[in-house]
Amino acid sequence: MDRQPASDPVIPPSLDIHFGDNLPILRRFAEKTFHLIYIDPPFNTGKTQTRARLKTTRDADGDRTGFQGQKYRTTRLGSLEFKDAFSDYLAFLGPRLQEAYRLLHPAGSLFLHVDYREVHYCKVLLDRIFARECFINEIVWAYDYGGRSRKRWSPKHDNILWYAKNPKDYTYRYDDIDRIPYMAPGLVGPKKAARGKTPTDTWWQTVVSPTGKEKTGYPTQKPRAILDRIVKVHSNPGDRVLDFFAGSGTTGEAAVRAGRSAVLIDSHPDAIRIMKKRLAFAKPALHGMKRAPSRKLPKRPSGRGRPEVPERP
Ligand SMILES: C[S@@+](CC[C@H](N)C(=O)[O-])C[C@H]1O[C@@H](n2cnc3c(N)ncnc32)[C@H](O)[C@@H]1O
Repeated sequence: MDRQPASDPVIPPSLDIHFGDNLPILRRFAEKTFHLIYIDPPFNTGKTQTRARLKTTRDADGDRTGFQGQKYRTTRLGSLEFKDAFSDYLAFLGPRLQEAYRLLHPAGSLFLHVDYREVHYCKVLLDRIFARECFINEIVWAYDYGGRSRKRWSPKHDNILWYAKNPKDYTYRYDDIDRIPYMAPGLVGPKKAARGKTPTDTWWQTVVSPTGKEKTGYPTQKPRAILDRIVKVHSNPGDRVLDFFAGSGTTGEAAVRAGRSAVLIDSHPDAIRIMKKRLAFAKPALHGMKRAPSRKLPKRPSGRGRPEVPERP
């Protein structure tokens, strides 16, 4: 599976940052031109997340006053709101995942980063787009951050679905996997203990520290270590990597620092501004920014353009 021809010329990595809705931008790229696609879409994009569904009935003791002073009682139809959110999410993601499939190189892989609420729906969607046998792994990113519930097991993980376009020919650079310490090094001998072991499909990795060096200030920024591992193991030097929900540009940084080219897309001006700063060392080419977003950064993006639900890391 290690598609790594030694004679391949390694072209210096290029970096392109696109500002705008990813769907029309993706449609402009040529098919089969990306070796690795990693995406970490927002949890929920639609108005449905905040749209309350209300039923109004006439009631002399009602809480609302309408036309000609009539009193009405409003009832909130809560559960439908949840359902709508799901169907909207998949309707939003579906065409973008179709594009991802079209753009993937025949030996390429897609990594879709979601959470425990959406992962099952996304798995079914991707099985339809790729075929079930193209599903290789569900990686569980486990972390330990934030409060704990007294009513259920606190969810402290994200899910990353890995699909290969061809399950018999994909990039998996086993020798480039970073090693992790054994839990009981005394049981394996000093040589093995010093070398460490390869991770399984459960990756323990702390979230980006709010005070650490890696922090860009962008909410939902993912740790470099996660992206470093994906990029180094699932692409070859010189390959093209795509992240079309790029946020703070973690994938881009992992890619160019590992000698891969990257194309990053985001529709949020704050994301573009942060990526420009974070990735300035790689001299990115900027696209779709007639007037480069230059507003001063708020502490956290908020409102409808907010890229993520707050409880995700
Ligand atoms: C969860 S964040 C990605 C975080 C990123 N992985 C990181 O490490 O910083 C999702 C991003 O998707 C962007 N986004 C949402 N809808 C989009 C769309 N239609 N086109 C392009 N970007 C979009 C948001 O602006 C947000 O920055």
